[in-house]
Amino acid sequence: MSRIVLPLVLCLAMAVQADFPNDPKPCKYGDTECFVKFCNRLITEKATEGDDSLNLVQLDPLAVDRMVLKQGDDRSPVRIDLTFTNNKLFGNKDLRFKKIRGFGKEIATKHEMIMTSKVYSLVGEYSIKGQVLVLPISGSGHSNMTLIGTDLKVSFIGKPVEKNGEIYMEATDLQYYLKPKSQHYHFSNLFNGDKILGDTMNTFLNENGAAIFSETKETIEKAFAALYQPLITRVFSKYPYAKYFAAEESS
Ligand SMILES: *[C@@H]1O[C@H](CO)[C@@H](O)[C@H](O)[C@H]1NC(C)=O
Repeated sequence: MSRIVLPLVLCLAMAVQADFPNDPKPCKYGDTECFVKFCNRLITEKATEGDDSLNLVQLDPLAVDRMVLKQGDDRSPVRIDLTFTNNKLFGNKDLRFKKIRGFGKEIATKHEMIMTSKVYSLVGEYSIKGQVLVLPISGSGHSNMTLIGTDLKVSFIGKPVEKNGEIYMEATDLQYYLKPKSQHYHFSNLFNGDKILGDTMNTFLNENGAAIFSETKETIEKAFAALYQPLITRVFSKYPYAKYFAAEESS
């Protein structure tokens, strides 16, 4: 099981821990302003350490055991088979929730989180083979893929599932959107360590960063979506859906 974890998932998970301190308090159904504050406070306070009593893993950096970006046919401008292993994602501590929609009583609807991140860096081992614009690329070594000033949106459709007479939520059709202002790539040891070719390629990648990103965006988004969807389902499988929210006043 991958250890990458979406911050909001943890926020919501923490809200229902039996011994979760009542500060900050969990939110009422659909109280999206409350969710935004709640999640921002937790990310600010807990991202770099995690918290055992809340069963919270360290969020910054986050472990990404393996991510595969494979895309393009012979005619695609960017045709790559890129695998990241033992990577860490840096930057979650500066993630800020801007807007949250959904998470009301109705499970079978769209739930959405809009966030911004200052600097997101995926750093670790890579292995790449393929062609980028007109140039062949190959190599394996250490890489740093950084997105700066990113707008993020995650949405999914909730699916109510009954277990032992209680209703739980599963996440389906998760969509992940990324819109960075700029991006930086660094791949060490390209072309078996040929320094001139490697430096040339890294310069080329960065000079064409926007074009390369837009060609690979969907593949990257799908890779992140595939990581997050089971995690959201897993978190919401811990308790019946209703337990994630503060009790209604009028009951
Ligand atoms: C990754 O690259 C970015 C942008 O160049 C840099 O700010 C950051 O410090 C690098 N991260 C690591 C862990 O090397």
